[in-house]
Amino acid sequence: MNVLFICLGNICRSPMAEGLFRHHVTRLGIDQHFTIDSCGTGAWHAGELPDIRMRETAEKNGITLTHRARQLQAVDFDRFDHLLVMDEQNYKDVVSVNSKMAEKVKLMSDLSDTHKGKIIPDPYFGDIKGFEQVFQLLDQVSTEIAQNFFQQYR
Ligand code: 4NP
Repeated sequence: MNVLFICLGNICRSPMAEGLFRHHVTRLGIDQHFTIDSCGTGAWHAGELPDIRMRETAEKNGITLTHRARQLQAVDFDRFDHLLVMDEQNYKDVVSVNSKMAEKVKLMSDLSDTHKGKIIPDPYFGDIKGFEQVFQLLDQVSTEIAQNFFQQYR
């Protein structure tokens, strides 16, 4: 199962989602079933580590983020089974790259049980509190997604 998390810049939400999802599937012992990656619809931050505020929030919670930002490519639609986006604009931007593959593109929260339809807000222009809130939300959502895959693979 190949899972790609996508946001706008690939330096805040999607690398955190990638790190958390990897953490939870590893904790559940099903990591061998997955290829997990993240990217952004924009290219402004390509090659960069995640935003320092996201890395510090992750580190405080025992997760080290080492992903280097990259932009979404057409080939990602072939390589990945799930393209999981953060918000509605993100959804539109991703589908516009390959509308024939729209069935693979979903709000990340739609694979959870208790957060369906919820957007993951962009913390980039806000303060550190926003990063902590986004971390908590991503942690809850990715825990539930990993749990749902666990039912499938165990
Ligand atoms: P992300 O946050 O999409 O969660 O990585 C952003 C990072 C950078 C920018 C926007 C959002 N930016 O405009 O540079």
